[in-house]
Amino acid sequence: MEFGRWVRVVVPATSANLGPGFDALGLALDWCEVVRLRLRPEGVRVQVTGTAADQVPRDETNLAVRGARAVLAALGVASVGLEVELSVELPVGRGLGSSAAAVVGGAMAANALCGLSLGNEEIVEVAARIEGHADNVAPAVLGGVCVCAPRTGSARTTWALRLDPPSKVFALLAIPNVSLPTSVARAALPGRVAFRDAVANVQRCALLVAALSLGRLDVLADATLDCLHQPYRLPMVPGLGECIVRARQAGALGAFLSGAGSTVLALVRDERAVLDRVRAALADSLLGVEGGGSLRQVRLRSGGAQVSYETADA
Ligand code: HSE
Repeated sequence: MEFGRWVRVVVPATSANLGPGFDALGLALDWCEVVRLRLRPEGVRVQVTGTAADQVPRDETNLAVRGARAVLAALGVASVGLEVELSVELPVGRGLGSSAAAVVGGAMAANALCGLSLGNEEIVEVAARIEGHADNVAPAVLGGVCVCAPRTGSARTTWALRLDPPSKVFALLAIPNVSLPTSVARAALPGRVAFRDAVANVQRCALLVAALSLGRLDVLADATLDCLHQPYRLPMVPGLGECIVRARQAGALGAFLSGAGSTVLALVRDERAVLDRVRAALADSLLGVEGGGSLRQVRLRSGGAQVSYETADA
């Protein structure tokens, strides 16, 4: 355990579900948050900068602090102080994994300061227990596309298997100005669904994993359809469903709600004409979304969170 030395973790945004893979699939995006952490003899000090800084707590409830504390507890380190610096760039409550990024950043920084005692799979489990959604946490740690499921029969709790993301594909993000907290978006889901809907999602989720494994981009339009969560969530933000319809019509490979929303993510081939068409369609649709919104184009990210050590007096 090292006191005084800063560790810096660059953590990617993530998009969970990818349409049919509710609570099962997630994707890392090349849009990152930075978490710096060092150990102190006692207390907690949190400094936050960035676009969403005013929404982030500065005490033990801070998610990066909680991630760090969970790793320290797993390693038997009970009483130690923490100093955390967060640069919060990802919009909060938009389904882009801002909470997962904070937890993973704190957890991986603490692990680095304790000799990298935990492996990445254990970090996923520790962080998912706090954040609640392995489908955001796993791609933040591992990068690429992650398939997550509960793990039984051992002390381990979560399967998280990584696939390479499709190459030459961009994510176009239509980010509404209204946030949709995950707890609210989950409360909108029904207790029961029709058997045919469950079967349709099993088929599409399996098709999506096969398509991503085989590089079959032509399959993504069908493979990203969903009838388990989007039909219940999209109406919560008037006009949002239109973003998905228009992006698909304009030539997106697939379009879906990012995580629990409110962002819509369109997967688009790296071809100028089609990128321009889908961008225009999304910009136009955002005008009809209650509260408006903004667009962002990001690459899919193959690698997960990156840890680096800074010199002791930095
Ligand atoms: N799979 C989760 C959900 C992700 O859709 O509720 C939350 O970000």
